[in-house]
Amino acid sequence: MSKIVVIGSSNTDLIAKVKDFPKAGETIKGVSYFQAMGGKGANQALAAHRLGGDVKFITSLGKDANGLNTLEYYKKEGLDASSSLIVNNTPSGVAMIWVDGKGENSIVIISGANEMLSSEYIHKIEKEILEADLIVLQMEIPYDTVKTVCDIAYEHNKQILLNVAPARKLDEDIIKKIDVLIVNETEAEIISGEIMEHIGEEGIVDKLLALGIKTVVLTLGKRGCILKNKQIYLRAPAFAVKTVDTTGAGDTFCGALAAELSKGHNWNETLEFASAAAAICVTRMGAQPSIPTETEVYDFLKKTVNYSF
Ligand code: RIB
Repeated sequence: MSKIVVIGSSNTDLIAKVKDFPKAGETIKGVSYFQAMGGKGANQALAAHRLGGDVKFITSLGKDANGLNTLEYYKKEGLDASSSLIVNNTPSGVAMIWVDGKGENSIVIISGANEMLSSEYIHKIEKEILEADLIVLQMEIPYDTVKTVCDIAYEHNKQILLNVAPARKLDEDIIKKIDVLIVNETEAEIISGEIMEHIGEEGIVDKLLALGIKTVVLTLGKRGCILKNKQIYLRAPAFAVKTVDTTGAGDTFCGALAAELSKGHNWNETLEFASAAAAICVTRMGAQPSIPTETEVYDFLKKTVNYSF
């Protein structure tokens, strides 16, 4: 099995369940509230770990209660975050999340310590990248840091998986270094400069491939996902489940995809496994509490599509 290093954010998620999102200037009564561990980086790292990957997670936390709780939690989960940065005088990242009756969410993040994960720090822990085979990145840490990681990883022939969430435009230089790009519709439109409604799903994927990315995975929510590279074009439907909360589903998909790739599985198996993991995730509240284990995913697949392993 190949080794995965995830470099990215950690947040404490403050989650309010509401019937409907409040309008500007409106005060509403929520249905329930709870706190859980989150952050796109951490969610993807934990997903890859729970789903059978050999994972190291590099993040940045403040020396505050949230930061210490988070480190304790990673330890309990068996997720190795020992090369992470712990900063003084900056609070750990938090995310304020509303989840409505349909399970859709609205998220505001306060990056805090995540912003301190600098290129300089990456150079200090460069050996972690050199010892890995697959590097997983998202966009909740400084963009320059993402670029530095890509430079080092590319120079040393490591596989790079980038999930461009939250969405932003990417420099040409970074695009060419990416092996697997995972994007939703909005992210695909921002990077390609095209509108999906105008050129279609495959059209936008082709645009991204033409920029120099090796494999593009376009996630389409309830409509499943598309994967394309020079050799294959795959379309995987989403599993029909009762949606409770979509928070962390995209991250679970990315982590699952990384875990499956690290096990040497082919794209068909990988997409099916990642879609099943994301489907289980949306049936539960919260990001990290909802990430399934590898056994849960196999059981789900057995029941749902008569899978035999
Ligand atoms: O993708 C979901 C995540 O986005 C949440 O866990 C929250 O922390 C934000 O980073």
